[in-house]
Amino acid sequence: MADAKSGELMEKIVSLCKRKGFIFQSSEIYGGLNGFWDYGPLGADLKRNVKEAWWNRMTRMRDDIAGLDATIIMHPRIWKASGHVDTFTDPMVDCKTCKGRFRADQVHEIPCPQKPSKMVCECHGEKTEARPFNLMFETTVGPIRSDDNIAYLRPETAQAIFVQFKNVLETARQKVPFGIAQVGKAFRNEVTPRNFTFRSREFEQMELEFFIKPDEAVEAICGSVAVPSAPGHPGEPRPDWGWKMWHQYWVEERIRFYEEIGLPRTTLEEYWQKPAELAHYARATVDLLFKFPFGTQELEGIAARSDFDLSQHQRFCGKPMTVFDEELKAAWPRLDAPKQESLKQQYLQSRLNYLVRAGEEKEKAEAQAKADAEALGKGYYVPHVIEPSAGVDRLTLALLCNAYSEDQAPDEKGKMETRIVMRLHPRIAPVKVAVFPLLKNKPELVRKALEVRDLLRPHMPVFYDEAGAIGRRYRRQDEGGTPFGITVDFDTLGEKGPDLKDTVTLRERDSMRQERVRIADLPSILMDKIR
Ligand code: GAP
Repeated sequence: MADAKSGELMEKIVSLCKRKGFIFQSSEIYGGLNGFWDYGPLGADLKRNVKEAWWNRMTRMRDDIAGLDATIIMHPRIWKASGHVDTFTDPMVDCKTCKGRFRADQVHEIPCPQKPSKMVCECHGEKTEARPFNLMFETTVGPIRSDDNIAYLRPETAQAIFVQFKNVLETARQKVPFGIAQVGKAFRNEVTPRNFTFRSREFEQMELEFFIKPDEAVEAICGSVAVPSAPGHPGEPRPDWGWKMWHQYWVEERIRFYEEIGLPRTTLEEYWQKPAELAHYARATVDLLFKFPFGTQELEGIAARSDFDLSQHQRFCGKPMTVFDEELKAAWPRLDAPKQESLKQQYLQSRLNYLVRAGEEKEKAEAQAKADAEALGKGYYVPHVIEPSAGVDRLTLALLCNAYSEDQAPDEKGKMETRIVMRLHPRIAPVKVAVFPLLKNKPELVRKALEVRDLLRPHMPVFYDEAGAIGRRYRRQDEGGTPFGITVDFDTLGEKGPDLKDTVTLRERDSMRQERVRIADLPSILMDKIR
């Protein structure tokens, strides 16, 4: 629960975000629009760096993940198949007094003065019964507004990955296990957007769908299925991994990613959803939580979603989502008959469970599950999936909250003052280095400083600043999270002798330590620090 001090901290962060150009209220000059936020000059670069770090780690640094960039509006049947049309709802209540609308599970439970058994909101008004409210934004496609043309702004990026699964599999020449990654906008008409950008109505997601073999196929190929034997990262993937190993692997991979961009493990918590909390198709879900000033809340969910998603699209579009697995086909005849039978039975049961839950008639479901089990012996199955799903805006907010700090530093006259520093990791900081001529009215200093700026520009984002006292310029960069500052002074010009000519001071934001380095060495020194 957030206390007054955390509330104060959050206010400071929100105010810094506006003052420094990280985040603005959307449509501010018209009074704003609840649940929508714009990223200013620093925020846009910070967010871009977050997405790039994720994309690089997921796609560029691995052979087994391919990328996708799909449309926001897709065929409306997709959302029927995924369950969003029927079940993507929040329970909503209206306050009979203030006419406010609230998520039933978020209304403050203050006893109503008139009827103490009733639930009321902060205005103490009586509430209506809770009713489901679908979170998808609706629109119509084409010039005629009718029910036949209704489409939705996607509430998650994941479904596009499932519906393009076959195209990506074939064009990227991948084999299961492999993944498809996507970064993009998602929209949810949240009943109560809140906590700054944490719960917005328009946001971005970074989602990976990592497709794996069903455990029955792994067992047929490898003879057994490896399951986790210890906590922590299980190491390089192996062919005998079942879904539990893959799930643990992705939880640990995601934590490593957060560590790499400056969120230490100690700022995160793992929450393993209890069986009663799991979606009906999910086998396990871990929420990675971050300690925000307003409470410890979800940053990312990593779900083992079985073969539910591809199976749903297979049923709804009538096209097979199965893959053919050479290794499985080759391994199957080598199994003895009882083994074949037991694996088939296990697979049949799992397919039957899915089909019955999906609402198929018993007889049809049994016949389909039997056919699926027969197909397994011939090398065919619907892949299962592990889904690490993260929010770009939530992560950006977590990084901003984690970076905010205040310390004491001397001002121009040596008097200690409070310094606000955004300790953003150099990898994701929007500006990597600021370049300052000591004085702006000395053309030689300015010329040299501009040369330094131009030397570094091709390698990293650089900010040139000649306005005001040097201490003030440092403070401005500290507040924006710029990790390094370079000052060009009279020594740089060789006024104290040839030894210091063409050297500058390089200041490190967090420690405020300064060292003298050669201009020619700056690109390599800095590249090492920001990589
Ligand atoms: N495909 C699975 C999925 O969408 P989710 O838990 O609903 O799962 C995944 O969303 C992530 O997207 C969340 O962990 C969060 O980071 C982000 N997210 C979800 N709703 C959000 C919202 N209203 N505002 C900002 N981020 C949101």
